[in-house]
Amino acid sequence: MSETFRIGGEIPIHRLGFGAMRLTGEGIWGPPRDEAEAIRVLQRLPELGVDFIDTADSYGPHVSEALIAKALHPYPGQLVIATKAGLTRAGPNQWAPNGRPEYLREAVHASLRRLKQDQLQLWQLHRIDGAVPRDEQFGAIAAMKQEGLIAHVGLSEVSVEEIQAAQRHFPVASVQNLYNLVNRRSEAVLDHCAKERIAFIPWYPLAAGALSRSGGVLPRLAAKYGVTTSAIALAWVLQRSDVMVPIPGTSRVKHLEENLAAAKVTLSADDFATLDAEGRAEHAKG
Ligand SMILES: NC(=O)c1ccc[n+]([C@@H]2O[C@H](COP(=O)([O-])OP(=O)(O)OC[C@H]3O[C@@H](n4cnc5c(N)ncnc54)[C@H](OP(=O)(O)O)[C@@H]3O)[C@@H](O)[C@H]2O)c1
Repeated sequence: MSETFRIGGEIPIHRLGFGAMRLTGEGIWGPPRDEAEAIRVLQRLPELGVDFIDTADSYGPHVSEALIAKALHPYPGQLVIATKAGLTRAGPNQWAPNGRPEYLREAVHASLRRLKQDQLQLWQLHRIDGAVPRDEQFGAIAAMKQEGLIAHVGLSEVSVEEIQAAQRHFPVASVQNLYNLVNRRSEAVLDHCAKERIAFIPWYPLAAGALSRSGGVLPRLAAKYGVTTSAIALAWVLQRSDVMVPIPGTSRVKHLEENLAAAKVTLSADDFATLDAEGRAEHAKG
């Protein structure tokens, strides 16, 4: 099992979590192709020691949250379900921000109902809506935290300046930005999170681009450590910072088990540095 991190300095979770976005249909729309396997994936999580699940009201929409409740409620004591709102859906692969305070409040109540919870332990603003003054969005969230609807607040796809603006309204417990071996555009945000002890939740953590090609560094290290290339990519992400809480997603139990092997891998300093350098070089190619 991976090491632990305390969300908001309070709630302990194992750092290698699970992302439940892929438990939906094509284009993150509608039910999954194989619901029985999706339920098996979710029910395997506590058995494998995973106690942090990331989801959002917009996955499906509503499908991912409803499946989590169907598979796992009543929840094991340790389990933390982090959800989000702030993106609306009109069809497959379509996402539009809505940060109006009344919309965010409705969304939080709907997530509480679907997840069958009295309080959301970590609720994340999926996107800051550029069409609504951000202080109005942050103010509405601070009020919901004050009322106890939300225990801890996270943000998604934000800059350091936006994190600091939000911190004037509430403590920021987590930041969820795109980050992986070959996409390093959030390095400055990650360093800021490490300094402030904010959980950094990298989405799309498995991506490794050309590094996973046959003859590349990932297959070589996968053979050396006796795991899959996806586990090596995740092991690097986990080792990059102790505030890192990756949430790899899959719709298959087999892939879940492969990915969780990352928690048992400790990359040597040389192997970590090689992956780091090759990942940065790939990122630079764009
Ligand atoms: N905040 C945001 O804006 C945002 C955006 C996107 C995602 N997210 C969150 O981040 C989580 C992860 O992101 P993601 O799903 O984009 O990326 P990911 O977890 O890095 O990759 C998921 C993809 O990799 C495949 N996969 C997983 N394990 C595998 C394995 N062992 N071997 C081969 N293929 C494997 C999955 O297919 P199979 O189902 O076939 O395994 C799926 O297509 C999501 O679930 C969601 O919670 C957040």
